Amino acid sequence: METKRIIISGATSGIGCEIAKLYIANGWKVGVMGRRVELLDDLKRMNPENVYVHQLDINAADATENLQQLIAAMGGMDIYFHVSGIGYQNTVLDYDKELNTVETNCKGFTRMVTFAFNYFADRGKGHIAAITSIAGTKGLGVSPAYSATKRYQNHYLQCLAQLAAIRKKNIKFTDIRPGFVATDLLNDSHHYPMLMQKEYVAKKAYNAVCRTKRVKVIDWRYRLLVGAWRMIPNCIWERLAIKN
Ligand SMILES: NC(=O)c1ccc[n+]([C@@H]2O[C@H](COP(=O)([O-])OP(=O)(O)OC[C@H]3O[C@@H](n4cnc5c(N)ncnc54)[C@H](OP(=O)(O)O)[C@@H]3O)[C@@H](O)[C@H]2O)c1
Repeated sequence: METKRIIISGATSGIGCEIAKLYIANGWKVGVMGRRVELLDDLKRMNPENVYVHQLDINAADATENLQQLIAAMGGMDIYFHVSGIGYQNTVLDYDKELNTVETNCKGFTRMVTFAFNYFADRGKGHIAAITSIAGTKGLGVSPAYSATKRYQNHYLQCLAQLAAIRKKNIKFTDIRPGFVATDLLNDSHHYPMLMQKEYVAKKAYNAVCRTKRVKVIDWRYRLLVGAWRMIPNCIWERLAIKN
């Protein structure tokens, strides 16, 4: 059987790095990308033959050409897994933080995922997975751009899933929405409740993609939480002091 090929953006640290390790351990051909390419050496050492390291900034204008080069080097791509993302708590509304978050989580995300959609549409099949967040469930006042951009990602994947159906393309989508995970993204002075380990979240994300789940909230405690959030009317939600 032919070796399956996956490309993961945002594999240099955190959840993406752990997901990459699982695919490598399970015998996949794995393309790993990010800006801090020196951090990818350990993944390469796990299986030098089957791991392809590629430096890529999803905000760069030539990011998709860059991805195309990696696909060519790997002889094709079966799954595109988008993990790259940034986010901040930003109650003082620092302008740069808000705009940088929009740039990476909306524009960069759209650039990469749209390219993957077109690639798979041409090929007739494929699978797009992304780590979004539970932060997109409702507007979160402590992280406005992060929350809004995660909602954008949830919505964009749904749009593409419907577009694939309209165009009769066999493209699968998996939207993975974790709660708080102990990674560099939360490396600030705040206390985060119900914090999960990145290895635990990566395993659940990996399983969700294997089962081609459409949406996966990680984990069950957060499923209950977001279920409760959804039932709160907006007029009440906007008066709640949701912070950590
Ligand atoms: N930690 C949490 O609580 C949590 C919860 C839910 C969802 N998430 C989501 O999980 C994803 C991964 O975050 P993490 O928690 O694992 O944090 P992390 O360790 O900071 O990982 C972020 C990853 O995104 C990559 N990235 C950021 N900007 C990029 C750019 N311009 N081009 C290419 N890659 C870029 C980083 O690589 P380089 O810096 O090397 O480019 C890094 O590999 C994010 O989308 C985040 O929103 C995190």
